[in-house]
Amino acid sequence: MPDPSPAGPTGERILVTAALPYANGPLHLGHLAGAYLPSDLFCRYQRLRGNDVAFICGSDEMGVAIMVRARKEGISPQELVDRIHPQIENAFKAFGMSFDHYGRTTSETHRETSQDFFRTLARQGVFTTKTEKQLFDPEAGIFLADRFVVGTCPKCGNENAYGDQCEKCGTALSPLELVNPRSTLSDATPELRETAHFYLPLADFQDRLSAWIDTHPEWKPNVLGQIRSWLSDGLRERAITRDVPWGVPVPEDVARDMGLDAEGKVIYVWFDAPIGYISATREWAAGRGTPDAWRDYWQQDTTRLVHFIGKDNIVFHCLMFPAMLMAHGDFVLPDNVPANEFLNIEGEKLSTSRGWAVWLHEYLEDFEPDLLRYALATTLPETKDADFNWAEFQTRVNSELADVLGNFVNRTMTFATRYFEGRVPPLENASDMDRATLAAIADFPERIGTAYNTYKMREAVFQTMALARLGNKYFNDTEPWHTRRTDMEACANTIHVSLQICGALAVLMDPVLPFTAARLRNMLQLGGIAPSTPRMGAFASSAATPAESGASPQIFWGDAAAPLLETGAPLGEPEILFTKIDDDVIQAQTEKLHAAGAGSAGGEDAASAGSDATGAPDAPHPPVADEASFDDFMKLDFRMGTVLEAEPVPKSNKLLRMVIDLGFEKRQILAGVRKHYTPEEMVGRRVAVVANLAPRQMMGLESQGMVLMAEDRDGSLHPLTSTGENGAIIR
Ligand code: MF3
Ligand code: ZN
Repeated sequence: MPDPSPAGPTGERILVTAALPYANGPLHLGHLAGAYLPSDLFCRYQRLRGNDVAFICGSDEMGVAIMVRARKEGISPQELVDRIHPQIENAFKAFGMSFDHYGRTTSETHRETSQDFFRTLARQGVFTTKTEKQLFDPEAGIFLADRFVVGTCPKCGNENAYGDQCEKCGTALSPLELVNPRSTLSDATPELRETAHFYLPLADFQDRLSAWIDTHPEWKPNVLGQIRSWLSDGLRERAITRDVPWGVPVPEDVARDMGLDAEGKVIYVWFDAPIGYISATREWAAGRGTPDAWRDYWQQDTTRLVHFIGKDNIVFHCLMFPAMLMAHGDFVLPDNVPANEFLNIEGEKLSTSRGWAVWLHEYLEDFEPDLLRYALATTLPETKDADFNWAEFQTRVNSELADVLGNFVNRTMTFATRYFEGRVPPLENASDMDRATLAAIADFPERIGTAYNTYKMREAVFQTMALARLGNKYFNDTEPWHTRRTDMEACANTIHVSLQICGALAVLMDPVLPFTAARLRNMLQLGGIAPSTPRMGAFASSAATPAESGASPQIFWGDAAAPLLETGAPLGEPEILFTKIDDDVIQAQTEKLHAAGAGSAGGEDAASAGSDATGAPDAPHPPVADEASFDDFMKLDFRMGTVLEAEPVPKSNKLLRMVIDLGFEKRQILAGVRKHYTPEEMVGRRVAVVANLAPRQMMGLESQGMVLMAEDRDGSLHPLTSTGENGAIIR
């Protein structure tokens, strides 16, 4: 065993939170790609580095979203969350999430913590109160916020506009603007009633928030962009109480002090939920027998606090919760909020209501968690929306995990077992290539670690696989299957160096492939690794072999820079790390997705929208889009073309792949027209094409433009055409 090296524990205290998922339904891949996988990669890395990590999450069980779901099912909100919370928790465990604590916001600790927080802010005079008229459902007996009310859109006449937005024309609405409003709970016509509420005047914090945000130019541009736009619009007050029968009750004493009746009022879910991070940390500390230790994480300014979230949560984590923490005093503010963009599925927006989603619990019935961890990690929506598709999942597993990583480990282990008695052979008279390869390993821990530490998870995982690629290439170049007959010393050197690469991989791949890394360590008989999972606590799970859990750690992340295996050390049995996934297995997954998503409307682009004839013939014409300048128009380059080839895209029931002749070049263009035109009907057609649209990936194919079609209100599509020559400019 090597000596503990200076690359050992650095002892930074890091408090990491992952957005509390609503306990109103199961987890899907969008959740994982947004907050959970990145946070787990980060925490596992930091623990291996020797840092003091508290990784906190839990179920968000209050709020209107829970109530709506429970009503739909005809059960109480409590019954709903009691059923969903353990499902979410178990799916997280099976996926390998290494939370130190997974709490829930219906807990007693959370009620106390959030009420105390509310009380402290109220006593400091932070809140205002205001009486307003709001829509009240006389049958259901509750006030109707946002999506509880539908009515006719004052702008476009859509009869099913929501209280916060018309989905037909996109106009943002308030419930009072709806014509003929009706309650979605009872269908009753709502009445106007007066009600008083607490408000958080965010404008009072605008200057402090701006100044604080200015100290963080290193935050991700997508996050800073959203924050700057909220700040430049000017922050407004936000109601932080609601009249609904489900939530953390407004403390009576506080209401009384401010001349308000607490009866029937609860704290707004976006006020209590982030406090859930604090309550869960308290529960974790109490569980370890050090009830005050939560303060070390939340109240010492040496703590690095990081919130992992999806982009729809930015305003709450970057402005509202920080304002609450500032107002309270004594709390650290986040050091970073590395929010991710959204994950699409097979080229279309993920939508749970339309059934267009891949569910974690269903995935786990069919595949190992590590495969998804790896595939998702390579396509995380870190800077822009990203796409998950099954074909790419298969490629990642077969050509990267199996062909590169698995193959390299297997070849190395097989040689060691067959020709070196299952022990690490010596390195003697090393060649230049042997030495250069060993030296090259040394760069990886820092390179991968820096990427994790700066929230570039895709890059970190790419660099991890690069080490396996390096190993595979070295193995090929040194040809041990030859040297085994001609030069046993050289063969031993190849296997020695290859085993050292396997040793480094067994540490460095742990964040992304924790289950497989544990198996590899077992194969290499490599013990004494700092665990990437919590050392104690309820969530401490799996992904560590029993043999390694007991020993006190001596090997940390940075130690992977130097050889970890000693000459002569015995190895375990070789095992296959990854098996390839067959086409029919992938086909079954895409079919399942399409079956569940059947009846879903098309993607965002015009050519694939409305592929189901859903709009009634007498539906209103959609409103004209926002004004475009002449320059905007001139940016687009429309050309005439002829469809040369057309064929269905495998596994898609919408897309046709066409090759279109633009005169000066041929283009591959994918269009969602399959329900309207057979390939035969398209071939030979003269069509108008947007020729300078940025290429996009759909179903693993690149689409290099868009075919223009007129869309009727019933959803039917009609290509635009002209007698102009191929390549003719249209304007
Ligand atoms: N439940 C919210 C969502 O899914 C996230 C809550 S994050 C917290 O969007 F900070 F409020 F906890
Ligand atoms: Zn509208």
